[in-house]
Formats: sequence, structure tokens, C-alpha cells
Amino acid sequence: MSGDATSDSHRHSRVLHSYAEPVTIDVTGEFDAAAARYDRLVGASPGYHRNLARSARRMHLPGSGAGLHLLDLGCGTGASTLALLAAAPQARITAVDASAGMLAQARQADWPARVSFVHARAEELAAAGVRGPFDGIFAAYLVRNLPDPDPVLAELRAALAPGAPLAIHDYTLDGQVRSRAIWTAVCWTVIIPTGKMLTGRAALYRYLWRSVLRFNTVDALATRLRGHGLVDTQIATMPGWERGIVHTVVARRAA
Ligand SMILES: C[S@@+](CC[C@H](N)C(=O)[O-])C[C@H]1O[C@@H](n2cnc3c(N)ncnc32)[C@H](O)[C@@H]1O
Repeated sequence: MSGDATSDSHRHSRVLHSYAEPVTIDVTGEFDAAAARYDRLVGASPGYHRNLARSARRMHLPGSGAGLHLLDLGCGTGASTLALLAAAPQARITAVDASAGMLAQARQADWPARVSFVHARAEELAAAGVRGPFDGIFAAYLVRNLPDPDPVLAELRAALAPGAPLAIHDYTLDGQVRSRAIWTAVCWTVIIPTGKMLTGRAALYRYLWRSVLRFNTVDALATRLRGHGLVDTQIATMPGWERGIVHTVVARRAA
């Protein structure tokens, strides 16, 4: 955490060499603390909402979504829920998050009655009464934050209806040196300073930088999903500086 006297410039140079150090932040607590400013922060990020909408469309949900039940896991303040709703305006959506602060922000917006929010950890969906079968599951910027993604991925596969898609939207690098360098440069020149300026905290944004470098490459993530028995894996990236850095990985439960 950032509560010591180390100057930012000193810390910056130290941290640049230490992305592999253990991640010790309380992710949910940090999101609680950032919640009130989160929408302003992502609003300042060109393409954040556009790219979520792109990923939701890549699920190829049928029709207007009428009769479908979708899960938005790690919904945060509702940006991904909104993207899902745009892709399937008639669907019923259950949106789940572990952070009460992020959910409180989400609930402030005006949602159709078909959208409901549930406070639960991804690891404890059944205990919270969140049960499938779902006709689609969207997880935007969630899986990378899970201490152990595999049990959750196994539950998600089991919760999908036959043929239904799981879409993971996240910072997952393509494995190219160039992408790692761009990610590090954008983090230290834009994301960490802006996050600190808008929320007064930097730990969450330093964690973001480090967690992306440590997480699966996009190909490894697709392989991981296939390891859970999911099929028809599709990978697509985003335009602009996020090319090779942010991806949608869509995989389906076998029909
Ligand atoms: C970066 S935010 C993304 C929010 C939203 N999906 C979006 O695209 O704007 C990640 C969210 O995942 C939630 N989260 C992290 N770990 C979680 C877990 N184990 N179970 C449920 N939610 C979790 C956090 O509370 C946070 O709201």
C-alpha cells in the first residue's frame, strides 16, 4: 500500500523493476475506496465504454435478447452492464460484484426492471442465489483480479446454457515486447498519475499495471478456457493504443 514516505518518483523507478513482487492489495477494498470517482476516471479513458460495447457485441447474442438471462460478473459501477444491455436490450441481466461501493454507484443509475444487482463474490455465486443456466456471461476486467481463476471458470462453464458464450474482456497482452512496453509506458505516464489525481490513491493503479504483466497472455487465456471444456474460442483485440493489449476472448459451452 502507498502509506509510507517514499516519493513517487523514487517509488516509480523502484516499482518499474519489481512487477513480479507479490501482489498484496485488498482488491475489493481498493475498488470500494475508488468507487465514487471510478466513472469519472474511466470516462477520461478514450474508448473505455466503446470497447466494452464491442466485446458485448462479440458475444453475438440472438435477436434483441428477449427471453435471455445474462450474467455480468464483476459489474462494478455498471459500465459493462450498460454495454451488455446495449447488445441485448430485452434481456434479463443479473449483475454481480464483490464491492459494495461499486454496486452503490451502479444502483444510482436508472435501470430497467429486468436488470438486478447482487452483492457477492465470484467465488460464492451459488451461495448468493446466483444460479444459471445463463444464456451468456460477460466478465469485464474481472478474471485477472481473481486470486484463483480456475474454480470460478469451472463454475461459470457449468452455469452456461448449452451453446451459450462466456466473454472475457480484459487487459491481456498478446505476448509481444512492444505491447508490454506500451502498457508500461501508458500506465506510468497516464493511468497511475490520473488514477492518483482523481482518487487520491495509487495502489490500485500500480496493481493494475503489475497484474496485467503477470496475468496470462491472451493465447494462454484462450487455452485456459479450452482446458475448462469451453469450445469455439474466438480472440479479438481493440483499435488504437489498446491493440494487442485489450482483448475479448469469447468461448462457448458445447451445444
Ligand atoms: C475494473 S472493475 C470493472 C467493472 C466493470 N466490469 C467495468 O467494465 O467497468 C473490476 C470489478 O471487479 C470486482 N471484483 C474483483 N474481484 C471480485 C470477485 N472476487 N468477485 C466479484 N467481483 C470482484 C471489483 O469489485 C470491481 O468492481
